[in-house]
This record gives sequence, C-alpha cells and structure tokens, in this order.
Amino acid sequence: MPSLDPTLRVARRLAEIERVTVLTGAGVSAASGVPTFRGRDGLWRTFRPEELATPHAFARDPRLVWEWYDWRRQRIAACSPNRVHEVLAEWSRRYPRFRLITQNVDGLHERAGTQHVLRYHGSIWDVRCAGGCARDAWLDVRVPLPDLPPRCPRCDGPLRPDVVWFGEPVDPRVAALARDATLCDVFFTIGTSAVVYPAAGLAHEARARGAMTVEINPEPTEATALVDVALQGPAEDVLDALDRAVCKIAGSSSARGAS
Ligand code: OAD
Repeated sequence: MPSLDPTLRVARRLAEIERVTVLTGAGVSAASGVPTFRGRDGLWRTFRPEELATPHAFARDPRLVWEWYDWRRQRIAACSPNRVHEVLAEWSRRYPRFRLITQNVDGLHERAGTQHVLRYHGSIWDVRCAGGCARDAWLDVRVPLPDLPPRCPRCDGPLRPDVVWFGEPVDPRVAALARDATLCDVFFTIGTSAVVYPAAGLAHEARARGAMTVEINPEPTEATALVDVALQGPAEDVLDALDRAVCKIAGSSSARGAS
C-alpha cells in the first residue's frame, strides 16, 4: 500500500486538533531578506560571535556592539514579513491554543500580526540596562544614536540590546512558558539549524510529551532524524502548501457536515 504523502499526513492531523506550537529560527525570515547565522551568507560566516554577541564583548567594546546591532536593525527595517509569517499569523487566530516560540529577534512575526509570540532570544528593538539597575528601558532605536552606548535614564549605566547573548540564560519566565507550550498536539520546528540549546531541546520535549513533531527546512539538521515528519523545502513554499491542504480538508469536512 502506498504511504500517505507527508504533507497530507500533517494536514490531516492539523485539521482535527487545537493545540499547535511552533518554534522558528532565522530561516523563516530568509525569504524576507534577513540573513541567517550559519547559512552560506550567514552572519557567523563573516562576523565572530565572541566579538559581538557576548557580555564580555559588550564590556570590552560597547560601541562596536551597538554599531553592529544598529546595522542589523537597519537591514531588518527594510524587510517585510513573508508568506511564513503570514500563515503563522493566520494560525495564531485560527487555533484556539496556538503558541509561537521564536529565536528570531527581528520582530517580523509581530509585524505580521501573530498573537501569542514568545521571544525566546529577546528583541533587537528593545533595550535594557547593563549597569547597576539592570531594568528594561525605553529608547527609540529605529534611528542610529549619536552617543554610544546610550545611558540608562535611572542609573546612568550603559544600555544594551535586550537580546540573549552567548553564555547568557534565557529569561526564566520565557523558558517556563516555552516548556509549557511543548504540551501540544503538533509541534513544528521551522527554519532553525537546531544547534543552539535550550531552544533546540524543545522539539524533543514536545515529542516526549506526545506531540507529533514536524520539521520544515530545506536542509537536513540536527533535528531531522528525531522528528516524526521532516518536510524538506523553503518554509515559505512548504507552509503555504500545508495551509492550503488543511483548508481543503476543513472545507470538504464542513461541506459534508452541511449536506
Ligand atoms: P541558523 O542560521 O543556525 O539556521 C538557519 C536555518 O534556516 C538553517 O537550518 C537553514 O537550512 C534554514 N533555512 C534557510 N532558508 C530557509 C527557508 N527559506 N525556509 C526554511 N528554512 C530555511 O539560525 P537559527 O537556528 O535560528 O542566537 O540560530 C539559532 C540561534 O543561533 C539564533 O537565535 C542566534 C544564533 O546565534 C543568538 O543570537 C543567541
């Protein structure tokens, strides 16, 4: 007997459940023009993370770190959400219990209107104090700032981007909410190389808790052999096809119900 097409298998499951959790990585923003980290033109091919994305790098040269983040913000500001962001935004309204955990700091899921976004690695658009008070602060970082690093209005310490750097823990509240979200019916891991922990561990946790796990990625990754279904291809195409298949199934079952 021929086996069921994997996209159809996932679509059928999606048509009958309510709890969907999605983990996204840099690959979902690739079609928008945001560079990934480890791909052919990935940021970590040109830049050294230990010089730009660690607390030590910031302590040594805060100006350099700010300039790099300003450059990234300007690139991101010129990009728009793509079909992946659109489908996931739609799912966030369609599924009663939808959660999205993103490792991306670009804010494109929010710009697409996605609800229930957990920013696992923070946001490139937010800042907080790296000095004594360590509190969140507000600053309009959409335009490059004249004096770097900007200072905390409360304690005059240096402000820093509110992102998770190498060697830093994920905000414990966010980590706990992400762990809760692994209790779901279908868990997607989309556009991530699945090498950075603890994010990469969430798919394993979801599977252990009974979810169907699905990966969408054009390349095999560390997660491919461990998920139930690997859909190979660019997420903007695969997710679009998957969403059409779900709508078709839902449409035909509601038509049957009406007759
Ligand atoms: P990576 O750059 O490590 O991986 C990007 C993944 O996206 C790769 O597996 C690509 O094959 C895949 N990809 C490329 N184009 C795609 C497309 N059109 N559709 C779907 N997938 C595509 O990025 P992340 O896994 O997100 O952390 O990296 C994880 C973390 O490492 C980041 O959050 C960042 C980085 O260092 C911090 O800054 C703390």
